[in-house]
Amino acid sequence: MAKMTRPLIAGNWKMNGLAGSLSELDAIIAGSSSAPFADLLVCPPATLVAAFAARAKGTGVMIGAQDCHMAPCGPHTGDISAEMLRDAGVSFVIVGHSERRADHHESDEIVRQKALAAHRAGLTAIVCVGETKADRDAGNTLDVVGRQISGSVPDGASAANLVVAYEPVWAIGTGVTPTVRDVEQVHELINLKLSMKLSIGSQPVRILYGGSVKSNNCKDLLDILHVDGALVGGASLNAADFLAIAAAVPK
Ligand code: PGA
Repeated sequence: MAKMTRPLIAGNWKMNGLAGSLSELDAIIAGSSSAPFADLLVCPPATLVAAFAARAKGTGVMIGAQDCHMAPCGPHTGDISAEMLRDAGVSFVIVGHSERRADHHESDEIVRQKALAAHRAGLTAIVCVGETKADRDAGNTLDVVGRQISGSVPDGASAANLVVAYEPVWAIGTGVTPTVRDVEQVHELINLKLSMKLSIGSQPVRILYGGSVKSNNCKDLLDILHVDGALVGGASLNAADFLAIAAAVPK
């Protein structure tokens, strides 16, 4: 089904990639014409952000980061601000990925502050939400995701500076995905919540699905109403796999 917004296929490399991985980016850039109906974004680890941004400049491939601090600068050893990322050439930053919520105890409020920091720096924030297996088994998925959207998405955001990614925690890196109906239900809820939160008449914000998206299951997922692209982990590390997913975006 044709989409109301141009889909975004984003690769989240997580803690993977060394200087030699620039060749993988080159392959994505070279093959990007095979995916004419999607925007392409690669989010390498912080060590590679500047080199990737320099390499991708002027091509159809955009570069993003995986996290930012909420402050613009200051005494925060080891952290990187949204302004620094902007200076390094990125245009997007993922905030509130479930691995950061778990490993670094990031609350909805921290995620919201990070999204605001991204906006302050002129970046688009990709705010991640998603339920755990225990939440789903207890029938709490819609409550949990609804609460995360309310707490993590800043008021006044717009399609120009916000993307939301629905990533069920139990689907990340497991090879297991929710049913089409389950994804449809959560995306419908997110769409509704966003339409109440964002300014009236604004363009719809893109809502990505993430969690074990592969070339062999992406078509069914990308066809779902209110699925405006994918956040891809493992399968984004290989240019051919990533491009195959992007090429499956419906016209
Ligand atoms: P996965 O990761 O595609 O490897 O499941 C997705 C993500 O965590 O963004």
